[in-house]
Amino acid sequence: MAAIIDGRRMAAMVTDQVATDVARLRAHSGTTPGLAVVLVGNDPASEIYVRRKVAETRKAGMRSMEHRLPADTSEETLFALIDTLNRDDDVHGILVQLPLPPQIDAGRVLDAIAPTKDVDGFHPVNVGRLSTGTGGLVPCTPLGCMMLLESVVDDFRGLKAVVIGKSNIVGKPVAMLLLERECTVTVTHILTRDLPAIVRSADIIVAAAGSPRLVRGDWVRDGAVVIDVGITRMTEADGVTRLVGDVAADEIGHARAYTPVPGGVGPMTIACLLANTVRAAELAHD
Ligand code: GUN
Repeated sequence: MAAIIDGRRMAAMVTDQVATDVARLRAHSGTTPGLAVVLVGNDPASEIYVRRKVAETRKAGMRSMEHRLPADTSEETLFALIDTLNRDDDVHGILVQLPLPPQIDAGRVLDAIAPTKDVDGFHPVNVGRLSTGTGGLVPCTPLGCMMLLESVVDDFRGLKAVVIGKSNIVGKPVAMLLLERECTVTVTHILTRDLPAIVRSADIIVAAAGSPRLVRGDWVRDGAVVIDVGITRMTEADGVTRLVGDVAADEIGHARAYTPVPGGVGPMTIACLLANTVRAAELAHD
């Protein structure tokens, strides 16, 4: 039987470590790490994520600054806020919740955040640092995927990893992290030809296509480790709404281990955001 990789347990361990690091930083340098979260508009999913991020930040003993701007906010207003946050020494991490309203160019906004405060790891400087293996802040979900993998894989060197999905938030950065661990990495996506055959060759599968139950049992080779990043909310025939991953988890009993949905990768994202915020605060005081 495949082992289930418990993301909630792992996230609790990361959060505990963050709380310890926060207490130490406070005792040694008198600094309380601060995270500024910026929400423009009132996208319902973003509201839920932001509320959770704020609550978890406070629970870990950090300062949380929430900035809510109306949906018709101009780019100039948002840039002015980011400029203020970049200069504020009490702010160690800045997160602008995506998606942004259509009048705002998300790429330009991410470019405006100071790379040292970019706890999402989306700034081109951090993307470049990740791809050259020279430090920097790493995007939260890929970081969480690696921690989950590390709980079951001792030696990554030479393993074949197949990433499904090429997003800037998950697919590309997780591929870079796997490459850094000396896996042989294949990045695929929904238009990849012979996708099942390619996935079947993998020791490690990271499914991040946002396509519910895309990866079927016969795509997964015996003993593979499967990380399911997909979370799609689906209303089924019985009228009940469920969260569905990119992997048909009921068909992969022959895998070595896999992350469930929910309770796998999801809880790790916020835990890693907290870890990145402490790291940014530590780097600011080195
Ligand atoms: N919206 C969905 N996922 C994310 C994320 O990881 N960071 C930010 N800033 N916005 C998001």
